[in-house]
Amino acid sequence: MIVLPHTLSEITGPVCGQGDIAETDNDLTRQHPAAPQGERIIVRGQVLDDGGRPLRKTLIEVWQANAAGRYFHDNDNHAAPLDPNFTGAGRTLTDEHGFYEFVTIRPGAYPWRNHESAWRPAHIHFSLFGPAFATRLVTQMYFPGDPLFARDPIFQSIPDERARERLIAKFDFDITKPEWALGFRFDIVLRGREATPFED
Ligand SMILES: [Fe+2]
Repeated sequence: MIVLPHTLSEITGPVCGQGDIAETDNDLTRQHPAAPQGERIIVRGQVLDDGGRPLRKTLIEVWQANAAGRYFHDNDNHAAPLDPNFTGAGRTLTDEHGFYEFVTIRPGAYPWRNHESAWRPAHIHFSLFGPAFATRLVTQMYFPGDPLFARDPIFQSIPDERARERLIAKFDFDITKPEWALGFRFDIVLRGREATPFED
């Protein structure tokens, strides 16, 4: 069994609160003068409680590596290029029906030296906070079919296979925008038997 000392980039994220959310805060591809490198994607989903009730006005913050697998972060010294047009942080509030949406680029896998040839599967970190929460909840969203799942001790630290699957976004043609971006659906359930696994 491999111990899980989270690297700084795993645990640090934007905690900016819910002050004034700017129009481009949920579009990580429009926060700089030019578009970032990489494959543009749309991530959309619904935040629900255990009764399937949508949770509105929930603050969702995301942070992620760029397309090359590098975080815009002093502690990340992975030998992959930074992208001057990509910070990799965003936030938004869920709407009246508990839905959120981000436009971003698909993050790259990155090495983290935890064990020999340790590579994190591509993922987006999520933090949730809102009226229905006692504490901030943090989790990671993964992409379907990633060959790195089997060797990732963070993903595998969730013992229940069905729970692990709830961390994998689903490719979604309804969210996909023709000639523009592939769409992924990632619903987040707070509690109950179908709850999304969260980090301690
Ligand atoms: Fe990460």
